[in-house]
Amino acid sequence: MEKVPVFDPTPRIKERARINSMDQYWQMVKEAESDYEGFWDKLAKEKINWREPYTKVLDESEAPFYKWFVGGKLNVTEQCIDRHLETKKNKAAIIWEGEPGDKRVITYLELYYEVNRFANLLKSKFGIKKGDRVVIYMPMIPEAAFAMLACARIGAIHSVVFGGFSAEALRDRIQDAQAKLVITADGAYRRGKPYMLKPVVDVALAKDCESVEAVLVVRRNNEEIKWHDHRDYDYNELIKDMPARCEPEIMDSEDPLFLLYTSGSTGKPKGVQHSQAGYILWAQLTMEWVFDIKDTDTYWCTADVGWITGHTYIVYGPLAAGATTMMYEGVPVYPDAGRWWRMIEEYRVNQFYTAPTAIRLLHKLGADEPDKYDLSSLYILGTVGEPINPDAWMWYFEKVGRGQCPIVDTWWQTETGGHMISPLPGATPIKPGSATFPLPGIFAEIIDTDGNKKEPNEKGYLCITKPWPSMIRTIWGDPDRFVKSYFGTCKKDGKPVYFSGDGAIYDEEGYIWITGRMDDVINVSGHRLGTAEIEAAIGHHPRVAECAVVGKPHEVKGESVFAFVVLKDDEGVADEMELIKEINEVITKDIGPLAKCDEIAFVPGLPKTRSGKIMRRILRSIAKGEEIKQDTSTLEDPSVVEKIIQIVQG
Ligand code: WT7
Repeated sequence: MEKVPVFDPTPRIKERARINSMDQYWQMVKEAESDYEGFWDKLAKEKINWREPYTKVLDESEAPFYKWFVGGKLNVTEQCIDRHLETKKNKAAIIWEGEPGDKRVITYLELYYEVNRFANLLKSKFGIKKGDRVVIYMPMIPEAAFAMLACARIGAIHSVVFGGFSAEALRDRIQDAQAKLVITADGAYRRGKPYMLKPVVDVALAKDCESVEAVLVVRRNNEEIKWHDHRDYDYNELIKDMPARCEPEIMDSEDPLFLLYTSGSTGKPKGVQHSQAGYILWAQLTMEWVFDIKDTDTYWCTADVGWITGHTYIVYGPLAAGATTMMYEGVPVYPDAGRWWRMIEEYRVNQFYTAPTAIRLLHKLGADEPDKYDLSSLYILGTVGEPINPDAWMWYFEKVGRGQCPIVDTWWQTETGGHMISPLPGATPIKPGSATFPLPGIFAEIIDTDGNKKEPNEKGYLCITKPWPSMIRTIWGDPDRFVKSYFGTCKKDGKPVYFSGDGAIYDEEGYIWITGRMDDVINVSGHRLGTAEIEAAIGHHPRVAECAVVGKPHEVKGESVFAFVVLKDDEGVADEMELIKEINEVITKDIGPLAKCDEIAFVPGLPKTRSGKIMRRILRSIAKGEEIKQDTSTLEDPSVVEKIIQIVQG
């Protein structure tokens, strides 16, 4: 590996950090190694407000269906709200800013009332009970967080669907979860204009969603929407009459807390199922360790609640830690590329957590914008979602952090619930582009399929070789797929271990460098997309015979979608632009605009092995404009490769 600069934690950060030396880090790692259950037992006892104590820390009897803190009882909303009321009822829990500039500050006491009223509404008006599924399709407004917490209050399982997903994608998720209620909003604001969500729900529910009994609509932009009598309900009216107290449902540690759908390499999105105690424990702990959250801090994560980052690091983690968490409705470049920096100045943000794609965009559109603002409140910067390139890293570090703020490059996944590999800001010497080391208690290792640890500079499978509290429990309704997807690739000491889907490399000093997905998943602007899903969508265009989709490196998005399409007819593609537009419309309809192709090549055939398997590696090389190194002589029709190269590279 190339030599890269190393940045030690500055005295400014060491002074305030809970964990402020590598010695302390290694000490914690060793504790976890020597007594794994004891390590977690101590933390769970210290951090969680249990209603009833658990009787067993970890139950491995049905591995890989691991159970944590077995027999314990709690309600995560007590952990996130009630327990803070004694000491911080008037502290801001959520600070929200709308894109047009409107503001709301919700104190912990207000949050308590909002969530309790919402919970009472779910129970009394819609008969939602423990275990029922509620789909939340919302913009970035405080009511999205209230809705999640209201579900948790009464033991309902929420499934938040990102507001950028199409009606078809929403319907798939509603059907899979068999949701009883959909919570949505009329719409919100984006790029200075209203955009609508409720009409998307209407389309989704127009077909095959019998499980849904009602739709609850929050008013945000007050644009005109259609009301369906006996199905749609006005949140803003109904909430007024709700009592402000709702006894929490007492939940078992292992009861499901939420589902969150994410893409895999094959088939439909999977409903990743998380449970109560282990999840909330790790959400809170990582806020303390990785963001070093303190009572006086203002913390801002720019994610959307529709992704796991929004779940763990806007809602559950910060609130469990008793922090002030910011929420912003709109895009980073409205009205200009200084919007976020202006907000950091105005709210004196101390921790700022965002995605490499956003950093690259803001760097490109406003390299000097950060200079215009006072960003001296910042202590810690964070990134998540994809590897960050050194250019973007250095700009973030120097311009936004003024060389004073460690960057925590956090590697994790929907399935891991919270951070797995990350620097500790007061301890870890950081290298631009490396997520550095596993957090204490997390056994992330780069191995081969038999569990042998890889030597430095050798790519291997990024696995987590011991169960951890916030791990995925199963795929909703598909336990076999859970076992196969995550525990079917690698073993250690003969036992199946969790494989993340990512490849990674150790450098000479043991730093971990993520190389990206090893499966057919692509990462566009930090959004995880399955090539199989996009291919299925493209296949819905009547002229398409077959297709293959690959990721191609992109300056801002990280990866962009490149499709190779074989048409049924041989009428040629005189109307190429029109056809590309139509194909992208099908993708937008089936999945959402985030999955649109940047490039589509119409080709006479796809490179396939004699057994019919598409050689995506060859297509990836062609898309990148690389020389083909693979042996093509064993292909069913080797000449097709030349033809495709001709078409793509001219
Ligand atoms: C995939 C998980 C975790 C919340 C956001 C994405 C990639 C994530 C990093 C990082 C390099 C990263 C991986 C992973 N990824 N963080 N710091 N460096 N790659 O969650 O949608 O479940 O996607 O995102 O490829 O497998 P997700």
